[in-house]
Amino acid sequence: MYKIAIVGATGLVGQKMLEVIDRKNIPFESLTLFTSSRSAGKSIDFQGKTYITEALTEEKANDKYDFVLMSAGGTTSLKFSPIFEAAGSIVIDNSSAFRMEEDIDLIVPEVNQPQLNRKIIANPNCSTIQSVVPLKPLQDKFGLKRVAYTTYQAVSGSGVAGRNDLVNGAKGEPPTNYPHPIYNNVLPHIDSFLESGYTKEEQKMIDETKKILNLPDLKVTATCVRVPVQDSHSVAINVTLDQPATIEEIRSLFEHTEGVVLIDDVSNNQYPLAINTTGKDEVFVGRIRIDDSLENAFHIWCTADNLLKGAALNAVQILEQIHQQNNQ
Ligand code: A2P
Repeated sequence: MYKIAIVGATGLVGQKMLEVIDRKNIPFESLTLFTSSRSAGKSIDFQGKTYITEALTEEKANDKYDFVLMSAGGTTSLKFSPIFEAAGSIVIDNSSAFRMEEDIDLIVPEVNQPQLNRKIIANPNCSTIQSVVPLKPLQDKFGLKRVAYTTYQAVSGSGVAGRNDLVNGAKGEPPTNYPHPIYNNVLPHIDSFLESGYTKEEQKMIDETKKILNLPDLKVTATCVRVPVQDSHSVAINVTLDQPATIEEIRSLFEHTEGVVLIDDVSNNQYPLAINTTGKDEVFVGRIRIDDSLENAFHIWCTADNLLKGAALNAVQILEQIHQQNNQ
């Protein structure tokens, strides 16, 4: 039985974390729900009990929890995760604040295992999580040479504020979260721009893919795009393998990979769709075809629920993975 805290319990990801903890019957003896001072004192009903949210303070972060699931943005994480860690809690952090630090594990349980040199474990970027799940079996069987991503990311990836811009934009209201309307539009801009011309989101996909797959020399590039879709991200993955492969071999590999579902029957218009992915735990792949502009290259269309596998579910799976490691 664990002492669990969720930081950001009123957010889209925090709410999904509660849902996943319930669905997976994660055993806990206490559950503490932290928010900013704005939502402190709010009631949240969970498993027949009413919990009152608390504002997170330095003093409260000094209490020891078995697991702290953090999803309250980078600034909150930078400030509070090290305090929780120093108090002996294991922090599973959904923000990008610590992901690229050398001694911090960046984990997708289907792909890699925490070394636990630090007690802060980073949950990767949403689009990266869903992409490395199908890339891993390709890496193991054929080797990877290059990956080029184009993403089609849902507004729920920007939290409540992103969702509001889409819903209110449909009523003709101006955006408050995005720099341009997202309703009836496509924004080639997620997170802030870097000097290179890439966005931080694109750079996260590039850096995190190499770190999770433990392939520092892999060639990776990305274009990240926000689309007017409520939930579930889609990623067009263009992958160049080291060794030759056939479409049938790749399909068969995906059919036998845990956490991956193959939907690839174009003669019946069957391929992964964001609307069919929402609420599901798996990563869906399809439209697998040869890219004959390069040697050993393939296109793969990939969808996943960005709030589940892209965030809350992956975080709870990390908790389960550590639970299993501790009980081996
Ligand atoms: P609050 O409801 O008080 O704003 P989302 O990204 O979906 O909007 O969710 C962000 C989550 O992070 C919310 O639960 C929000 O709480 C929480 N949050 C924001 N700032 C802090 C903070 N300083 N300490 C704790 N939780 C925070």
